[in-house]
This record gives sequence, C-alpha cells and structure tokens, in this order.
Amino acid sequence: MPPIIDVKNLTKRYRNHIAVDNVDLEVQEGEIFGILGPNGAGKTTTLEMIEGLRKPDAGSITVDGIDAVNDSDRVRKIIGVQLQSTALFPYLTASELVALFGSFYGVTEPRNRAPELLRLVDLEDKSASRVEELSGGQQQRLSIALALVNTPRVTFLDEPTTGLDPHARRNLWQTILGVREAGATVVLTTHYMEEAEVLCDRIAIMDGGKVIACNTPAGLIRGLDAEATVTATIIRPVGVDPVPTRDSATTDDAFSNLPGVVAADVSPHETGNRLTLKTRDAQTSIMGLLELAAERSIVLEDLSSSRATLEDVFLARTGRTYEEDDPDPAS
Ligand SMILES: Nc1ncnc2c1ncn2[C@@H]1O[C@H](COP(=O)(O)OP(=O)(O)O)[C@@H](O)[C@H]1O
Ligand SMILES: [Mg+2]
Repeated sequence: MPPIIDVKNLTKRYRNHIAVDNVDLEVQEGEIFGILGPNGAGKTTTLEMIEGLRKPDAGSITVDGIDAVNDSDRVRKIIGVQLQSTALFPYLTASELVALFGSFYGVTEPRNRAPELLRLVDLEDKSASRVEELSGGQQQRLSIALALVNTPRVTFLDEPTTGLDPHARRNLWQTILGVREAGATVVLTTHYMEEAEVLCDRIAIMDGGKVIACNTPAGLIRGLDAEATVTATIIRPVGVDPVPTRDSATTDDAFSNLPGVVAADVSPHETGNRLTLKTRDAQTSIMGLLELAAERSIVLEDLSSSRATLEDVFLARTGRTYEEDDPDPAS
C-alpha cells in the first residue's frame, strides 16, 4: 500500500532560521501518526505545510496521491483540521455547530451528521448545550467532531490535549482512538512523551527542525543500546570490604560484566552505594546480579527495574534531557 501521506525533503525557512530541515515522513492509512518534539521543534510548521496552509521552500508532499504543495485546494476537501476551541461560536449548540460546519463542506443533510459525530466524541448528551457551557475538554472533543464532519481521509490534530487536566486528557485519548477505530487516519502533534507512547502507532521525534527518529514506540526503545535500567542500593554487612565507589581508582568490573549490562555505575548514597545498570535484558542482568550478591554477601535494597522510555530515546539521540514544558500559549 502506498502511504496516504508522503513527505520528501521538506524544508521551511523563516528569514535565516530553518524551522523544518529536510524532513521525510510517510504516514500509512489507518494509523495514528504522532509528531513528538519540544516547543519550537517545527511540528506545527510541518503539519500546516501538509495541510496546505503554509508553502514549503523545498520538498514535496502528497496526500492520498494529490500534490499538497500545488493543489492544496483539492487536499483541503479530503482532510479534517482541528480548530483551536477558542475559534468556536460560543452561542451555538454542539449540534448546530456540527450542522454549520457540515454546510461549509457541502455535506448533504449536515444536521444528520450531528448524532453520530457527537456520539463518537462522547458528547451525545450535550447536543443541545451551547459551546460556552462546555468544559475545556468537552470543547476540545467537539472541535475533533467538527474536524470529522466531511468524513476526511486524514484528520490533523495540533497539540490536541495541551492545557487539559490529566483526566480530560485521558478522555481525549479515548476519543482519538475511537476516530481511528472509525477508520480515519490521524496525524497529531504533541510535546507529551507519554501521550505519544500511549496513543500513536508510529512516532516521528522532531528536534531543531529535523526528524531524529521514526518508528513504533516499541521500535524506538528497541533501537536503544539499553532497553531497561536496573537500580539497587548496595549494603555490605559490617566487616566486609566496602564496595568500590565511582571515585575509587578501580570501579567494579563485576557489575559491568554482568550478562546483558551495557553500562554500570556505582555512586555513594545515604545508606550505601547506589548501583545503576543499563541493560539490554533486565531479567538476565537481575539474575546475574542476585548471584553476585550471594557470592559477595552484598545486601541489595530497593532493587527495581524500569523499561526505557521515549525520554531515553530523546537523550540518546540528542544528548539532552527532554523538557516537557507547556508551550507558550502565544506561540
Ligand atoms: N510565522 C513564523 N515566523 C517566524 N518564525 C516562525 C513562525 N512560525 C514558527 N516560527 C519558528 O519556527 C520554529 C518552529 O516553530 P513551530 O513549527 O511552531 O514549532 P512547534 O510547533 O514544534 O512548537 C520555531 O523556532 C518558531 O519560533
Ligand atoms: Mg506547535
């Protein structure tokens, strides 16, 4: 199957600043595709070029085989774009708004679209409520229903959950999953790592205008040298040699030589030494660690293991920790 969206060598400059730098993307039909990155990474610029709202300086884009750079009017008919909820008409009811948007798109019997779309975004009991009476999360869900009014091939959502509380955010995730269930392809941007990981079938991580990695969430993590981190506090019974610390001339090779371990670190901690193992296989490394502890009369406290996250992927690719600050609402 050819991709429903095919982006090649896409570039956009603002004066001297490259906002989008030679980006390639392929979105498959029926998937939720996420563009994840910090504020300023180039997510909105990329999305709006695909939507035909901004002109690229270089590169090509096709949406369902249509040239989105030179034929953007045709593309706009087959896509759905979520508006900011502040752009909705406050005095109209939810179902009136669906009907109005349907008429913009030339949908036949636009009123008949309302029950089905409002059910999809879990607002069926709000069809007679005015927009101004809806909560922020409900307005966001309504704006997704409006983006679906023309039964688009692809729906674009730019930071759909920014500004929502955690409960409303989870509700919206359910809505977006429902949109995919209903057969649509979804392209969304987010700066929330967890959101991308939970929601997206595939993710392109953007930073500084470039796509630095693109894969399924599990594939991104499998691409790391270490897929998990094992930590423990090492305590030695009195009279036994202290465990070497990071400061000592010889760090303890026994830890770095454990099966599966990619890197080992031992550093002083309140009650003992803190051991951190980066490992390709947590279970094998933990079994080796327990054997070693038995041999050397080491007591391990707080032994725990955690799978790598997309934050580890970002760190590995950029050398920087990921800052999940909410973007400036003005930008
Ligand atoms: N209209 C514009 N004029 C000048 N610079 C812009 C404009 N839009 C975005 N930028 C800049 O381009 C970069 C990417 O912005 P944007 O695509 O909005 O990123 P994101 O959506 O990932 O936060 C940022 O450095 C931003 O300041
Ligand atoms: Mg943006």
